[in-house]
Amino acid sequence: MSATAKLLVADLASTVHQLPSRFVRPIDDRPNFSHVRTPTGYSFPVIDLHNLHGLSRADVVAQIGQACERDGFFLVKNHGVPEELMNGMLRLAREFFRLPESERLKSYSDDPTKTTRLSTSFNVKTEKVANWRDFLRLHCYPLELYVNEWPENPPSFRKEVAEYCTRVRELTLKLLEAISESLGLPKDSIANSIGGHGQHMALNYYPPCPQPELTYGLPGHTDPNLITLLLQDQVPGLQALHDNTWFALDPIPNTFIINIGDQMQALSNDRYKSVLHRAVVNSETERISIPTFYCPSQDAMIGPFKELADVKNRAVYRQFSYSEYYKTFWNEGLATKRCLDLFRVE
Ligand code: OGA
Ligand code: NI
Repeated sequence: MSATAKLLVADLASTVHQLPSRFVRPIDDRPNFSHVRTPTGYSFPVIDLHNLHGLSRADVVAQIGQACERDGFFLVKNHGVPEELMNGMLRLAREFFRLPESERLKSYSDDPTKTTRLSTSFNVKTEKVANWRDFLRLHCYPLELYVNEWPENPPSFRKEVAEYCTRVRELTLKLLEAISESLGLPKDSIANSIGGHGQHMALNYYPPCPQPELTYGLPGHTDPNLITLLLQDQVPGLQALHDNTWFALDPIPNTFIINIGDQMQALSNDRYKSVLHRAVVNSETERISIPTFYCPSQDAMIGPFKELADVKNRAVYRQFSYSEYYKTFWNEGLATKRCLDLFRVE
């Protein structure tokens, strides 16, 4: 097999000194590292969740609301997910991507409708330029429907990932209550508007890249789901757009990076922002990130809360099913930067 015939970037990375042409971006669509303000530029807010259940709950809720409205991205500390579980996930991901190629390829599929699969780039069936990323994608809620499809190697994978997913879900539900309150709604409003709920997870693996200035790990996109909780290792790479400038979100141990997804922007009638973000790669070190994508169930009908879409502020999105949205995202995906615009009224 020639180097460029490798399916996964993990196996290609060590064999090439130049970036294969299928990864090279057009000249006006490259990371442009010198224009990224790191890390002295803008700092996304870090919110301490310790007081979410104390006397200063209203203050924490207000901080969350402001971050959702102004930034679309914030970090949380004292979030309740044990540090050992977070470190365990990163270790498992590292071990998974170090398994022999033949072992990893057992999970490979390029069909986005599969509920457990290893793939590469974003959507190899529809995209024009490839991305320097491999990813293992899992569905994880309801857990019992999916856990038996997950990899059995490394041997503790199912047990540890199940524990992690369960704890991250608890955190997510707390955040959804706080976000509902920050919109002036009863605390169960968001949880009650997304059908039976869904939870997906990706284990993203970005190998060292011979020419990181010519490509992306993931190009600019917004997340199609409701809300994302990202765990990352100690290697920088994530950037988010703020005031039309890319800012790095460099790793802070034991925090989650939270970002608002398209469904939250739709429910809030554009008050809360699903913000463009991207992952860049580097020539030195592999990077691992593990986003949890919390989402509506496929049959859920989504549209702006009627309390937020009154006579004055008309609903800016039509009603749609999450399955329609999700299909559109994976087909148009990262080519159309704003999938949500396709669902706007008018
Ligand atoms: C994603 C994503 C960022 C990262 O998977 O949707 O934005 O840092 N990942 O890997
Ligand atoms: Ni994303």
